[in-house]
Amino acid sequence: MAGLFISFEGPEGAGKTTVLQEITDRLRAQGQDVVMTREPGGIPIAEKIREVILDSNHDAMDSKTEALLYAAARRQHLVEKIIPALEQGKIVLCDRFIDSSLAYQGFARELGIENVLAINLFAIEQYMPDCTIFFDVPPEVGLARIWKDKDRERNRLDLEKMDFHKRVYKGYQEVMRLDSERIQVVDAQQTPAQVVENVWRIVSSEVNIHKDS
Ligand code: TMP
Repeated sequence: MAGLFISFEGPEGAGKTTVLQEITDRLRAQGQDVVMTREPGGIPIAEKIREVILDSNHDAMDSKTEALLYAAARRQHLVEKIIPALEQGKIVLCDRFIDSSLAYQGFARELGIENVLAINLFAIEQYMPDCTIFFDVPPEVGLARIWKDKDRERNRLDLEKMDFHKRVYKGYQEVMRLDSERIQVVDAQQTPAQVVENVWRIVSSEVNIHKDS
């Protein structure tokens, strides 16, 4: 049976990474074969592209170059890691995927969601996630969390002005409107334990539906 592909989305400081680790641990405790990965990155070539995109010295980077680099990293990550895992029937949990490009580059950078979708469909072909969980946190709250955490790396996109992050949030609302069946929303302003429980409910239900299909 083909595997299950779930992506996790949200603005900066939404708490995705911590929750993803907990969900991975729970699935593995059930005996599920899980690949937890992230974008941009997940494999050496894409991690190198990540360094180029997020380097805070690269303030000359053009928006289209940025969108193409994210799509290139996505393509390589998909081919090298996600497709083989899905073909082996594994569950793939991916921290960010195509919707990040639609919200950040398509909407916030004003390249147009349709244009960014087009280059990404070229990159991913038919491999859209089966389900996407959006961590809903207002940009002010998410960014305040990041600035409080002194150990967290601050990349070129974190350093964008508040107005950019507000547009990212609006971009996600638009993307969710366009694909409301695939994307489920979790209130990420709740306590971490509550967020984990809500995400767990959605993931377990997806795993069960997938098992029966
Ligand atoms: P991360 O901080 O969640 O690892 O993501 C790195 C940054 O890259 C974050 O600011 C979101 C941004 N991003 C995009 O702008 N477009 C994309 O397609 C992806 C995957 C991430």
